[in-house]
Amino acid sequence: MATQLPVISSLPSDAGTEMLQEAGSEHIWLHGASRRALLEQTDKRILVEGKGCIVKDIDGNEFIDALAGLWLVNIGHGRREIGEAMAAQASTLAYASSAQATTVPAIRLATLLSEITPGDLSTVFFCSGGSEAVESAVKIARQYHYFRGEPKRQKVIGRRGSYHGATYGAMSVSGTRQMNEPYHSPFMPGTMHVSPPYCYRCDYRHTYPACDVYCADAVGQMIEYEGPQTVAAVIAEPVSASQGIVVPPPEYLPRLRDICDRHGVLLIADEVINGFGRTGKMFASEHWELVGDIMTLAKGLSSGYAPIAAAVCRPHVVEPFAGDNKLSHLLTFGGHAVACAAALTNIAIMQDEGIVDNAAAMGTYMREQLEQLRSHPTVGDVRGIGLLLGVELVKDKTSKEKFPMESEEVKTLNELFIENGLLTRATHIISLSPPLCINRGEVDRIVDILDRSLTAFESKYGYH
Ligand SMILES: Cc1ncc(COP(=O)(O)O)c(C=O)c1O
Repeated sequence: MATQLPVISSLPSDAGTEMLQEAGSEHIWLHGASRRALLEQTDKRILVEGKGCIVKDIDGNEFIDALAGLWLVNIGHGRREIGEAMAAQASTLAYASSAQATTVPAIRLATLLSEITPGDLSTVFFCSGGSEAVESAVKIARQYHYFRGEPKRQKVIGRRGSYHGATYGAMSVSGTRQMNEPYHSPFMPGTMHVSPPYCYRCDYRHTYPACDVYCADAVGQMIEYEGPQTVAAVIAEPVSASQGIVVPPPEYLPRLRDICDRHGVLLIADEVINGFGRTGKMFASEHWELVGDIMTLAKGLSSGYAPIAAAVCRPHVVEPFAGDNKLSHLLTFGGHAVACAAALTNIAIMQDEGIVDNAAAMGTYMREQLEQLRSHPTVGDVRGIGLLLGVELVKDKTSKEKFPMESEEVKTLNELFIENGLLTRATHIISLSPPLCINRGEVDRIVDILDRSLTAFESKYGYH
């Protein structure tokens, strides 16, 4: 064990839970939260250790982590090998300028990504998180068209309900206007949104397959209406987690690919959540033989052991960036050597331990077990792919009336999960995305807690 130097601070090294909570609440602004959330909200806690799918808080309470942190601890918590790889790299060379040099782990990781990502995706722009990957992809797409002599191609089409990040451009292409409009509009000019392939609640009131996947054709119609000469890119997650684990019908993504090709528009496949085994294949695109022109990666790339992300491009995308045609985009931490070492070891563990196959097998098992929850009066739908699963909540199965996101009822359900030792998040959907190393016993434990929590919730609010 390396010796740790004492930090000179007013917070003593032996501070207890209460003192830490008070200091955390005073000095840490949790993301997406009010200023004192750590003290005021029951689901905000101080976690101290984890192993596989299990995490413990500072008071010794144990939880099963059904969201893999925030959809990312794919290989599970507590893998010493990654810590060791990071320590070895940090003590050799932690950093080299992202603009003037690179490092051996960055080259190794970029090469590996070019080999495991679909099709001819092969040039990697590294950054630190999913939002940055999306910002980078959008800027690359715009400059691609500029250098090809089409500078008017600036617009980006996203989908309602999709989430692509919190920075300004990523927020603007996200389909989350209602959350951000009061504070952050006007959004990035030229961002617009189409309806998603959300068959359970189709905006067009259509039913698959009779609909002939009109929602994909609607993207083509929007491009034609705006003028293809003004559209740079379409961005889509193959499976959208934020919309409520929306798995598109089989024809949707191939048709989206054709539409983009027909109009010279780049397709950005956002695999920030989908990538690295989450859907039972290394990348969700593989389920539909999709090759995006640019693929955004983050989260599972390092399983959360280090902040690292990437925008991976096909050869025709990078081709116009020749000679003086430079990418006008630079991030200090892009390709950080220690983060690359973490990602390399993470992927090595995935390959060595058959993590993706386990995700496929456990995903099938978990989906079967979740089906039993349909007998609950508030469960409207169960869906998903691999270990990206969701249970959609409704007040009434016929009308499909939703529970308002910030309602007292949804808050109570989330509190029941915590009380019963489950970490996940319920909005209009209970999101389930555990570490991919999960076993059958742990799946059973999650489903049992869901079942008990839903029963208590329904009895409290009188749903029969
Ligand atoms: C599909 C998708 N893209 C981008 C992002 C943004 O990633 P980050 O939070 O790392 O910036 C997220 C975050 O959840 C996401 O789900």
